[in-house]
Amino acid sequence: MSEDKVQITIDGQTLEAPKGAMLIEVTDKADIAIPRFCYHKKLSIAANCRMCLVDVEKAPKPLPACATPVMDGMVVHTRSARALQAQKATMEFLLINHPLDCPICDQGGECELQDVSYLYGKDVSQYSDSKRVVVDKNIGPLIATEFTRCIQCTRCVRFGDEIAGMRELGATGRGDSMTIGTYIQKSVDSELSGNVIDICPVGALTAKPSRFKARAWELQAHKSIAAHDCVGSNITVHTAHNTIIRVVPHENEAINETWLSDRDRFSYQGFDTEDRKTTPMVKRNGSWQEVDWSEALEEAANEMELVIEKHGAENLAALASANSTLEELYLLQKLMRAKGCNNIDHRLFQIDFSNQHNAPVMPWLGMEIAELENLDAVLLVASNIRKEQPLLNSRLKKAVNKGASISSLNCKAYPANYRMLQQRVVSPRKVVSELALLCQALADLAGATLDNSVQALCNNQSVTEQHKAIAESLSKGENSAIIVGSQAVLFADYSHIRALSQTLADLSNSKLSIIAEDSNTAGAWLAGFVPHRLAGGEKTPQTGLNASEIMEGKLKGYLLLNMDADYDSANPQGLIASLEEAESVIAVSPYLNEAMSKVATVFLPIGTCFETSGTRVNCSGQWQSFKGAIAAKGESRPGWKVLRVLANTAAVEGFDYLDSADVRKEIQSACENVVLENRIESNIEERQTDDGMICFGDRNLYAVDQLVRRAEALQKTTDALQSQNVRLSPATAKQMNIANMQKVNLVQDDTSVVTMVEIDDSIADDCLWVPLSGYAASKLKGSKCKINVEAI
Ligand code: SF4
Ligand code: SF4
Ligand code: FES
Repeated sequence: MSEDKVQITIDGQTLEAPKGAMLIEVTDKADIAIPRFCYHKKLSIAANCRMCLVDVEKAPKPLPACATPVMDGMVVHTRSARALQAQKATMEFLLINHPLDCPICDQGGECELQDVSYLYGKDVSQYSDSKRVVVDKNIGPLIATEFTRCIQCTRCVRFGDEIAGMRELGATGRGDSMTIGTYIQKSVDSELSGNVIDICPVGALTAKPSRFKARAWELQAHKSIAAHDCVGSNITVHTAHNTIIRVVPHENEAINETWLSDRDRFSYQGFDTEDRKTTPMVKRNGSWQEVDWSEALEEAANEMELVIEKHGAENLAALASANSTLEELYLLQKLMRAKGCNNIDHRLFQIDFSNQHNAPVMPWLGMEIAELENLDAVLLVASNIRKEQPLLNSRLKKAVNKGASISSLNCKAYPANYRMLQQRVVSPRKVVSELALLCQALADLAGATLDNSVQALCNNQSVTEQHKAIAESLSKGENSAIIVGSQAVLFADYSHIRALSQTLADLSNSKLSIIAEDSNTAGAWLAGFVPHRLAGGEKTPQTGLNASEIMEGKLKGYLLLNMDADYDSANPQGLIASLEEAESVIAVSPYLNEAMSKVATVFLPIGTCFETSGTRVNCSGQWQSFKGAIAAKGESRPGWKVLRVLANTAAVEGFDYLDSADVRKEIQSACENVVLENRIESNIEERQTDDGMICFGDRNLYAVDQLVRRAEALQKTTDALQSQNVRLSPATAKQMNIANMQKVNLVQDDTSVVTMVEIDDSIADDCLWVPLSGYAASKLKGSKCKINVEAI
């Protein structure tokens, strides 16, 4: 036996255990059941429920297994008379105030207290006084409370503190009067709040959207992969009668541990909304007509053919949301290329494509997800990681708890849920010079001379104490990373940001991590859904138009996959103008909203992510396949099938797949030689530093894709309800003589929008913050063009 192990005997079984482990960890591993309420393997130990009392020889009284470290030679009995008596006594005390009204409790059938009370409870209570009653609290649209059922285990309180990083729930009062609440009347707003529903051992915290919709034993479980961020969380979709009742996490230690973001948990609500259309349609003489599948597919194939005949394949284009599956993206690009068209792109929010030919085969985290928690120094560039990728952020929070120093460089001071070393907030025009100054600070530390081209980008500014502090933390770190966030693609200087981040990583001997914007961005690259690469990253002989060019291109034919044109791009105004003038717009989507209904000519209804099989590739390069949890609604069909039959109808060869696994196999063989790497060859060149106001914004976490935008409960959260006004920093507003909540006219080229300005001290000076995927953004052209703010 090694030195760091001890030998113990539990219920007559001799076991080896690591020194310092708690008894309950050892019994769990050995499948010896011990009842518990407050213990949770991912939370700190509170030892306040006493349900796990066990009989340890030589100990004067029973000890809590969750808080008793193993000792060599320890002899433990979990089912002796002394242990059982202690456990039963605890149960009796816990039930004194518990209503035990299981038939009307949403937790019934999957309740830890219900299960344990069957085993350890008594049929008749000795307690004859009135039970206590706690008034319920409204803590927001996601979580329902029944605090009379609370057993004060404090799991929810510790979760807030230790995982979510926001102490939103807390305990007040003592003994019999102890209650859980939000201290002041407010909603629980963490982006991970729904996890308290899973960890609450009783029915005190349940999911509001699925409350009383079905009993636990009526549900069918389907393993799947979440579709709203690049983590690829493992989920179980619970269904009844071909309807989704709820989504819960499926434990995968390497990816999402036991957690799930609220976005992934509650997005299912959007799968059946008013604008969900499930019958194929064709627009004739300006009005929609429902048709059968063969007519709709023939119409779509004819329209594509007609555009090619009349205007050439260069007048056709396909855009897709990178939340589509790998199979959908692959088949669509294959169809377009078979028709001679390379105008294919998923980079709907990107502006700068100047170095796309040197881009790695896909954006990559540069490490396993779990490795994030072992980093000791991090610089986040253009990233609101907490809201964009809540579970990657929770790994960073763990790293901070272990002593990591985290700094950020953004255009807005995003509230972090851990201690930040430095937060640099600069206008979008200054991000490049900031990165160059950080390179300078690192070179100074190492006594090295910085490349002239990088020096020139410092714009004659000097390194500050803040730059030095960030540089020091990165150079001291033995496992450091420069994490470039998904906002970086929104910048007109993206290629410079990317190249300088690499220089920074080289100078500080850090990893370079790229966080992709959508759930399958990596898959979209691998599938060849870009204008210059085929599947597996092979170069195309001819490069097609990129997303930005396609949107503004006023082409004759468009095919849009899983997109709402008025929300899912950096330039909704430009895209809609192009679609309005096109001869053919084929919408392949589960939804047909007002804007799409106006511009589309053919509508091919497909299933949402719950109604199709497919594959997603996450940020650490893991391919994860899943099956549909329910049959596609109405006449709609899985996207990959619709695209396969569209290709058959268009007489394109090589589309004889039997199932989505067949498609995956073909993509896999194209990707056989893919090597994951984040290095990008680039010559850092001088750049024009334009003057003038520039706008920037971030995608609201509850507006990132079609499904999430339609999820009713998510749309009622504080994050979703944030104001749609544009924002200026106090200094910039003062300089422009603009007051808080003043009406302004925003002028961008030939477009103008009247809106209100809010003064917000988290915004960088000299720029205008615009909510992307929102009211103002749908009428603006993105951050590519200058913007004038005129007070009205
Ligand atoms: Fe029954 Fe559990 Fe609900 Fe209590 S919390 S009423 S034990 S199902
Ligand atoms: Fe425990 Fe649930 Fe009560 Fe929170 S609400 S203390 S998780 S029983
Ligand atoms: Fe051990 Fe609560 S589980 S005291």
